Amino acid sequence: MNNQNQLYDIGVIGLGVMGKNLALNIADNQYKVAAFDLDEHKVQDTVQQEERERKQYLKQVTEPRILGCNNLSEMLSKLEKPRVLLLSVPAGAPVDGVCKSLIEAGIESDDIVIDTGNSLWTDTVEREQRYNKDFLFFSCAVSGGEVGARFGPSLMPSGSLTAWNRIEPIWQAIAAKVDAKTGLPIERFEPGNPVTEGEPCTTYIGPAGSGHYVKMVHNGIEYADMQLICEAYQLLNQGLGLSPAKVGDVFERWNQGSLNSYLMEISADVLKQADPLTGAPLVEMILDKAGQKGTGLWTAVSSLQIGCPAPTIAEAVYARAISTQKGQRQQLSQLLSGPNETLKLSDPQAFIDQLENALYCAKVSCYAQGFQLMAMQAKEQAWQLDFAEIAKIWRAGCIIRATFLQSITQAYQQDSKLENLLMAESFAKGLSDKQNDWRIAVSTAVMGGIPAPCISSALAYYDSYRSATLPASLLQGQRDYFGAHTFERTDKPAGEKYHLNWSSDRSLNKV
Ligand code: 6PG
Repeated sequence: MNNQNQLYDIGVIGLGVMGKNLALNIADNQYKVAAFDLDEHKVQDTVQQEERERKQYLKQVTEPRILGCNNLSEMLSKLEKPRVLLLSVPAGAPVDGVCKSLIEAGIESDDIVIDTGNSLWTDTVEREQRYNKDFLFFSCAVSGGEVGARFGPSLMPSGSLTAWNRIEPIWQAIAAKVDAKTGLPIERFEPGNPVTEGEPCTTYIGPAGSGHYVKMVHNGIEYADMQLICEAYQLLNQGLGLSPAKVGDVFERWNQGSLNSYLMEISADVLKQADPLTGAPLVEMILDKAGQKGTGLWTAVSSLQIGCPAPTIAEAVYARAISTQKGQRQQLSQLLSGPNETLKLSDPQAFIDQLENALYCAKVSCYAQGFQLMAMQAKEQAWQLDFAEIAKIWRAGCIIRATFLQSITQAYQQDSKLENLLMAESFAKGLSDKQNDWRIAVSTAVMGGIPAPCISSALAYYDSYRSATLPASLLQGQRDYFGAHTFERTDKPAGEKYHLNWSSDRSLNKV
C-alpha cells in the first residue's frame, strides 16, 4: 500500500505536552497515528520527534508512523472507519469547540471521539447525550503527566461499551504495566521499546462520567498526599532544623518502606536540588504560593454535596488557598505570636520515626476518604465501580502510584463491598498500632506552632470514625431548641421524630 492511500488507526487532536506524548506512545505500540493541532508548529514538532526517534531507535522502520494533518477534514479522510479520535485539549469549551468542528468536517455516527482531558464529570455525562446523534462520545481520564503519557499512563475510560470494545487493545498497549506477581510498576523509558509484559493500568470504569469522577478523586487524593508530604517537610525543616537536602535524605529512606511512592520519590529529588542561579536549595527559592487547576476543589465540592466526609482533601485545597495569601501571611507573621523556635525534642531521630508512622496513617486516612467518596457517588449514580480494579490501575503510571496501592487492591479483593478502608483488617491493625505516633506528630506540630492541617484532619477523621458516640446529640438538641427541627431518640425506632417545647412547658411531643 503506498503512503497516499494508507489508512490510519487513530487520530490525535491537540498536540500539547499530553497529546504529543500520547501520539508517540501509540505509534510505539504499532498503531498508525494521524495528528492535528490548530497550531501547525505543534504538528511539525510531533512529526519531527517521531522521525528523530524512529531513526535513532527503530532503524528497520522506514515509513513515518505519525501523519501530520493540515485540518480535521484531511484527518477524517485518512482514518480507518469507524474512526477513533483522541482529543487532548483543555477541559471545558475547547472540547465542545473540537466536537463542533468535527461535525462540520463530516464525522459519522459510528465514529468514536475520546476526551482525555481533565473534564468535569458532569460535562462528560451531558456531552455523551448531546453528541449521540453525531458520533459516539467517549471519555478516558489520563494520569501520569508528560512521562506517563509517553511511556505508560494510568487510563480511566468510561462510556459506551461499543466504543470501549473497539479501543481496548490500543488502551491496553499504551497503558503503564504492573508486574502481576509483585504489584510493582514495570518501567522502561525508551522510545520505540514499550513495555509489553505485565498487567495494563487500564480498566473499563463504567457509564459516562464515572471515569472522570474516578480521576477527579485521584486528583483529590493527589492534593492531600502532596500536602501531607509538605507538612512533614515543614516539621523536619522548620521544626527540627534539618536542611532541605537532609529532609530529602529522610524522604529517600522513607521511600524504601511503607511510604514508597512516586510523590515521595520526587519530593526527595526536589529537596536535594540546588538552585542553578544561586546555589541555594531550590525549594527555598521557589515562591511559596501553590497553583491549582481545580480538580482538588471539584473533589472537595463533590464530597460536600454528597455528604461524604473528605476533610483531608478539603484541607489540602485550603492549604493551597492560604499559601496564595502571601501578603497577609507576611503581615500576620509580625503580628500574631506563637512558639517560633525549633522544637525542643530530646530524641529527634525518634521523632523522625514517629513522623514516618504518622504520615503512613494520614495517607491511609486520606485514601479511605477518597474511596468512600467514590463509593457514595457510585451509589447515587448507580455505577458498579470495582474498587479493587481501580486501586490496581493506580499502582503504576499515575501520579499517586505507590506500593501501598497493592494493599488497597488486596483489601477490596478480599471484600468488594468494604464500606470504608479503615474497616479492612490490615489497615485497622496498622493504624491501631501506629496511632500513638500520629498523635505525637500532631501534638508536636500544634505545640511547635507549625501548621499541619492535613496530618491533623486525617487524625480527626480516624478519631471520628472510631467514636461510636459523637456530640451530634447536642447539635440536634440545639437545632430543636432554636428551630423546632426535631430529633430521633436512642431508645425509639429510627425515623420517629420528637420535639421538646423548649420555650414553654418543656414537654416532649412525638411529631
Ligand atoms: C495527573 C495529574 C494531572 C495534573 C493535575 C495538576 O494525574 O496526571 O493530576 O492531572 O498534573 O491537573 O493539578 P493542579 O494544577 O491542580 O495541581
